[in-house]
Amino acid sequence: MTALNLVDSHCHINFEPLSTDLEAVLARARDSGIAYMLCVGVNLEDFPQVRELAHSHEHIFASVGVHPNERDGREPKPEELVALAQDPRVVAIGETGLDYYRCDGELGWQQERFRCHIRAAKTCAKPLIIHMRDAGADTLKIMREEGAKEVGGVMHCFTAGWDLAREAMALNFHISFSGIITFKNAAALREVARRVPAERLLVETDAPYLAPVPYRGKTNEPAFVRYVAQCLAELRECPVETLADQTTSNFFSLFSRAKRVDFVPG
Ligand code: NI
Repeated sequence: MTALNLVDSHCHINFEPLSTDLEAVLARARDSGIAYMLCVGVNLEDFPQVRELAHSHEHIFASVGVHPNERDGREPKPEELVALAQDPRVVAIGETGLDYYRCDGELGWQQERFRCHIRAAKTCAKPLIIHMRDAGADTLKIMREEGAKEVGGVMHCFTAGWDLAREAMALNFHISFSGIITFKNAAALREVARRVPAERLLVETDAPYLAPVPYRGKTNEPAFVRYVAQCLAELRECPVETLADQTTSNFFSLFSRAKRVDFVPG
């Protein structure tokens, strides 16, 4: 396979089963041309592991945040997120956002948590990683009310329609596609992915979840981001090397705290 230079812009390699076999997972990523990855925090309790991964591997970056579906952990305050984000390996705030699919009932707490992350991101001038599921209108409304445009960020694992993509891009956000675009029933999403301007595109796995075809249903890992890139390249009728270079360059312009290191593709 041709040597690529890809970034997995969103993974959870501190989760089992990836964490128990980490060196092999990282070796397979390297052999597949995955030069960098962003390990995304989902709660404060596990953040030390995420930070440690980024400190012990120069091609792994970290983010800090509390996921909208987290119910058991400590609630973050903006000051605490800002303090944790001072770590030089922390390149973003998140993941944060709204999820009305997996949570129901009164969701004011979720909206308040989302606002808290946007305020922290503005204070420390770091971009946001936003998770949005069945909550497009409220997500955009809060992004506008809190001035998320000032820091920008990424709509991770994007599954919504073109109108939401367009509105998020108008707020300085990138659009990141996961293995979902390879799924048989995702024709509408592929059409969105075809239309996103090249300079706004990112690719991710969201590993260990959402493995792309041909591994759908299996444990996902950063090495598989190449299948996402391949699918996007086919849709956009460009060479996969071009798609890889473009999304890698987009990653470093968005996450400007992340520093490039020498990478010899496997
Ligand atoms: Ni995630």
